[in-house]
Amino acid sequence: MADDHRENRRLWNEWSDTFQGLWNADTADGELPPTPTPFSADASARDPLPDAASPEGLDVVELGCGGGQGTVGTALAGAERVVSVDLSEEQLRHARRLRDFAGVDAAFLQTDVTRLPLPDDAFDAAFSEWAFQMVADLDAALAEARRVLRPGGSFLLSVPHPFGELMDDETGELARDYHADPRRRVTIDEAYDAEMVVFDRTVSELHQALTDAGFAVDRIVEPDPRESPAGGETDADGPVAPRDLRIWATVE
Ligand SMILES: C[S@@+](CC[C@H](N)C(=O)[O-])C[C@H]1O[C@@H](n2cnc3c(N)ncnc32)[C@H](O)[C@@H]1O
Repeated sequence: MADDHRENRRLWNEWSDTFQGLWNADTADGELPPTPTPFSADASARDPLPDAASPEGLDVVELGCGGGQGTVGTALAGAERVVSVDLSEEQLRHARRLRDFAGVDAAFLQTDVTRLPLPDDAFDAAFSEWAFQMVADLDAALAEARRVLRPGGSFLLSVPHPFGELMDDETGELARDYHADPRRRVTIDEAYDAEMVVFDRTVSELHQALTDAGFAVDRIVEPDPRESPAGGETDADGPVAPRDLRIWATVE
């Protein structure tokens, strides 16, 4: 495993309880926390799927599932089979707990998205939300997504929008160069003994990498943060940068 991935795994294992707390993933109050899925009638209004409006009857894989909210939402929306992977054991512990709480079927595997222990041509759809920005070898991860999808399969790749990542969170000022070396270290908490390693790829680099991996890019969605929860809601009065970049692609 690449050193950057080892560090990200350590970071996520340390941060997981706090991070999942932000999602209201603690099910102790008896309520199912939010389980947004890109495969739903609601989601397709803002995030239209190229072909399918629902995952009903589909085999779906989530790459970098974190606490399993998207996985559980996809299973609740009627997917035939959902298999999800993540690097972090602690994130997967939350994901399994959420799955059991929701009473749905989903399999969770601890693995790196660059090396999926899954057969070729096994899924109709794949999605990854806010995980591939932590992947050092994007080409390897996309090749794996492509390999496990069936011909014609759909792939949603969502990452933090690179324009949003250029801004200093405190000042709202431009803090980085769009074309700089993409690798960056982010301190989540000084108390943790790992930082997050991220790669701020440009829109054209992501598009090219998908094409090189054998995907046809169908649609690029940039939700307005003022209008869409998926875009990272904001109360800001002034100009706001996009937070979410969502690319829908199909296996050629
Ligand atoms: C910001 S969370 C997003 C989780 C989930 N997709 C969501 O939208 O809530 C990112 C997740 O990606 C996982 N991750 C990061 N790099 C990974 C890799 N190389 N392989 C598998 N999972 C990875 C982390 O462990 C973490 O759980």
